[in-house]
Amino acid sequence: MTGTSRRYWDAIADMYQGTTRIRQDDYHYGPLVPGDRELGLLPATLAGCHCLELGCGGAQNSIYLAAQGARCVACDLSGGQLAAARQRIQEKRVAVDLIQADLDHLPFRPEPIFGLVHSSYALPFVQDPERMVREAARRLLPGGVLLFSTAHPLAMGEWVELDEGETGIFTRDYFQPELDQRLEGEAEEICRAVPIGEMFDWCRAAGLVVERLLEPRPHPRHLLDDHALREQIPYWSEDWLERRDELSRIPFLVVVRAVKP
Ligand SMILES: C[S@@+](CC[C@H](N)C(=O)[O-])C[C@H]1O[C@@H](n2cnc3c(N)ncnc32)[C@H](O)[C@@H]1O
Repeated sequence: MTGTSRRYWDAIADMYQGTTRIRQDDYHYGPLVPGDRELGLLPATLAGCHCLELGCGGAQNSIYLAAQGARCVACDLSGGQLAAARQRIQEKRVAVDLIQADLDHLPFRPEPIFGLVHSSYALPFVQDPERMVREAARRLLPGGVLLFSTAHPLAMGEWVELDEGETGIFTRDYFQPELDQRLEGEAEEICRAVPIGEMFDWCRAAGLVVERLLEPRPHPRHLLDDHALREQIPYWSEDWLERRDELSRIPFLVVVRAVKP
């Protein structure tokens, strides 16, 4: 499974990095939703903070943190995504250590050395996300923060047309969300969501205290038009903007901030 997953991300890496607009002067959580300048979930002191990013893609979040003075390590399964990350890191002239790694089998020792372990929308692609949360927690210093965004179970539902052109989301079973199968040539990737209560329990079982759990909503169009959104929101693409009305009616993602006591 990991092989086909890696091939999938390698195959789409150029397209993903070319079409997704990801700012490097804010920390992003996912499509169309406010960044950390507005949500304020990152640790108060980033200078000197030792940070580990899981599933970094083009490493825009680690680049942002490194520019604030953090010491950053970032890992991803895909060589294609890491090549894009390497190029951005060089262009920005910041220091971020990149590691090619499968989040289901983290290669480095579980020493508690990080003040922040963070991940933006990589958890839905991991085989065993509960284990990943546990492994992340083992690498946190006391007082350290685990910050991740992941798929919201409602976003796995199907948009259906009801009477008189009204639309809504249909989910067969909230407790077993549909899988989102993605294909690129022969390569396959599966995006999975779990009920929100389960995410909370993963953190608790890993010895973490959940401080915040957010279902961020894109700003409605009458408060932020598409032009302003392109200027202000740290993660968007033309495809995501086409889905803006849908995405403002259900939470597309969940953001969790948990702390190691
Ligand atoms: C939706 S992208 C998000 C990338 C980046 N965090 C961002 O916000 O742009 C998901 C990322 O997770 C990585 N990924 C998927 N499965 C993985 C795994 N098992 N181990 C490590 N990385 C993985 C992919 O290569 C991809 O870069």
